[in-house]
Amino acid sequence: MQDMLEHAYRNGYAVGGFDLVSLDFLEAIMAAGEAQRSPLIISLAESHFDYYDFELAMAAAEQAAKRGSIPVAIHLDHGASYDSAVKAINLGCNGVMVDVSQAAFDENVARTKTIVDMSHACGVPVEGELGYVAGVEGEDAEKHPGDVIYTSVDEAKAYVAQTGVDFLAVSIGTVHGRMQGRPVLDFERLQQINRALQIPLVIHGGTGLSDEQFTRLIENGVAKINYYTALADAAGNKMRDNVAADKRSGYTGIVSGIQQAMRVEIERCMRLWGSAGKADAVLATATAWQPVHHVIIYNTDSDDAAQVSHMMQEGEKVLSQIPGVRRVITGKAVQADARYRYSWLIEFVHENVIDSYRDHPDHVAFANHLFRPVAGDRISIDFSQTSR
Ligand code: 13P
Repeated sequence: MQDMLEHAYRNGYAVGGFDLVSLDFLEAIMAAGEAQRSPLIISLAESHFDYYDFELAMAAAEQAAKRGSIPVAIHLDHGASYDSAVKAINLGCNGVMVDVSQAAFDENVARTKTIVDMSHACGVPVEGELGYVAGVEGEDAEKHPGDVIYTSVDEAKAYVAQTGVDFLAVSIGTVHGRMQGRPVLDFERLQQINRALQIPLVIHGGTGLSDEQFTRLIENGVAKINYYTALADAAGNKMRDNVAADKRSGYTGIVSGIQQAMRVEIERCMRLWGSAGKADAVLATATAWQPVHHVIIYNTDSDDAAQVSHMMQEGEKVLSQIPGVRRVITGKAVQADARYRYSWLIEFVHENVIDSYRDHPDHVAFANHLFRPVAGDRISIDFSQTSR
């Protein structure tokens, strides 16, 4: 995500952060990216978690990204808390957004900074938000008329310096959801923010902007555009047509053709925002997102099977909650005469986690009180993954 957005920022184009709410969205986003040879961001918004199972959707998103031939980042959109960010990272997100933009400045800074420190220790970049973009994705904007709070240039400078966020979502007049007419955007303000910060900027509420507005946003430092309502509407319109054509349609009849309808809109955006055709250039400069396997093989000094089993169960429970840990697998040698009888395989999301995991208080407590006292004879090595 970091390398992708840096490339976009330096080369004057923007990557789409497309929110999904079902597999149809995921397949449409990926097919559009492949057809346009475009880098892309699969976005999962916490505000949508009532509509799908986050954990299942993450497994599908990750599989889609791995199988694709274009660069793909997987991003938590509008993450509401520290715990949400940890969960997203441990499930495979390699970008997170912290949205505490409705809190007062000092509170926004304090909460965002805690999440930035944790995320950076996992190798994951963070998008912060300052100011307030009103509206709700997928709904009529006038039903959610909260006041837009514009991002101030001075606060933006202080916020980025104090939190260390990698990208900033700015509020310059866009609104989430379906609008009547076009919003008026404060390009002067955007230009000043861009001059002051020199980091990739993000626009939320991409639906409903004109081609010219998109072009001017990108000219003034916007490298990521969040987009959802237009896709949901393209799918909804197609479903209404399907029902009108055959009132007896079942599920597959009603959703038939919605992927294609969304794909047309996504491909239009990719061409308009300039990300089309950039996949190979991004792949040439970006570091791949590869896990590290922390492997331990060991013997126990204790013959007490219950004690060993308790230690393993505790380890699985406690260690898998540490930020940056994807999974914890305990093992027992198949051969009775193996040189080492037991194993741990702990998958880290990123090389940075080697240090942050070692120093994490939950790991230190487990290792000192439960593991090391019984496992004096052990070998521990971190392996980077060499296959895809
Ligand atoms: P729209 O639904 O208005 O395109 O906004 C999407 C968004 O900003 C998601 O974070």
